[in-house]
Amino acid sequence: MPPFKLPSHFPSPLYSFDKNPLSNQGISLGRRLFFDPILSKDSSIACGSCHHPSQAFADTGKRFSRGIAGQFTKRNAPGLFNLLWQREFFADGGVRHFELIPLAPLVNRQEMQGDLQELLGRLNKNTSYKQQFSQVFDTDSLQSKHLLYALAQFMGSLISATSRYDQYVQKKLPLSDIEQQGLTVFKQKCSTCHQISNQLFTDLSYRNIGLDSVLLDVGRYNITERKEDKGKFKVPSLRNVLLTPPYMHDGRFSTIDEVLTHYTKGVKHTPTLDKGLRNNTGSPGIALSLDERRAIKAFLHTLTDTAFIRKHHK
Ligand code: HEC
Ligand code: HEC
Repeated sequence: MPPFKLPSHFPSPLYSFDKNPLSNQGISLGRRLFFDPILSKDSSIACGSCHHPSQAFADTGKRFSRGIAGQFTKRNAPGLFNLLWQREFFADGGVRHFELIPLAPLVNRQEMQGDLQELLGRLNKNTSYKQQFSQVFDTDSLQSKHLLYALAQFMGSLISATSRYDQYVQKKLPLSDIEQQGLTVFKQKCSTCHQISNQLFTDLSYRNIGLDSVLLDVGRYNITERKEDKGKFKVPSLRNVLLTPPYMHDGRFSTIDEVLTHYTKGVKHTPTLDKGLRNNTGSPGIALSLDERRAIKAFLHTLTDTAFIRKHHK
């Protein structure tokens, strides 16, 4: 029996566990590591210090998270779910391989300041971990790939596909009138980027939504160094979005209302501004009536996945 079922209304995942066979023990080991501060240099910070299960694995209420010695992260911590369907990770897509994600926070100076060799030494000396690793991977010498595989099994198991919206898609329950109106507006005005047809609420692309005319964070340009990528950030999923304020790569907006006000009248025109946010009246942005705003908010509520939260918040 596979340890978890892939949702039948989702596309095929982009990461397969061919080289890293999934097991319940593997996921448990990954979970233990995720919540264990032993992974950071001074054993003070775990992955779970910034990614909380009760908040869809985001760091709700904080613009920036605090890592080792109280240092702030450079970006807002996103929720973690449906990672098996993502091509690239982080707001600028700086990590291209699912298994390599943990290396970034592990060695980052603001986050965990770890040293992989030193950490492996520490884990190898811990009899309980050593035993658990040898059970899962059938090996006496714990290597970095085993650490990454176990974390990949846990991260892969974080699947959010049981919101009220999912039940609606699977024809198990109806949406209310206002939620239905919100879905219609969303399809017209938001889904070119927050794609609905793939169930992910993102088309996985990078876009400039006109947050700033002078950039503090150049986003995708960090990785590609192509000038057309300045100010572009990965389109985030909007699943569980009500649970994960504040919003945007730098957590600048505290509420959905502030986000919607940005789209209607805050969009700044710069050379890389997305075509979808330019319009021929001269003022960039997306026009939304008060009724449409209300309906969109009602619709976004249907993306809160309480079963997902309950499953992982133990
Ligand atoms: C000090 C806080 C902190 C710690 C500790 C931390 N993270 Fe994060 N995490 C963040 C922030 C901030 C981001 C957003 C970074 C960005 O977009 O550039 C992030 C992004 C991610 C992402 C990318 C999600 C996406 O949609 O692209 C994953 C996956 C992730 N973290 C997993 C982990 C794992 C696994 C660990 C432990 C090995 C960990 N994090 C430790 C703060 C933290
Ligand atoms: C042109 C593409 C595009 C369109 C159209 C668009 N968005 Fe976005 N949206 C993005 C990108 C890119 C981000 C992330 C920006 C960042 O991190 O700085 C984002 C972020 C958000 C966020 C914050 C999510 C988070 O977790 O921080 C919300 C909420 C949101 N959009 C809602 C909407 C709604 C509602 C609409 C329709 C009215 C919409 N968006 C239309 C591209 C788009």
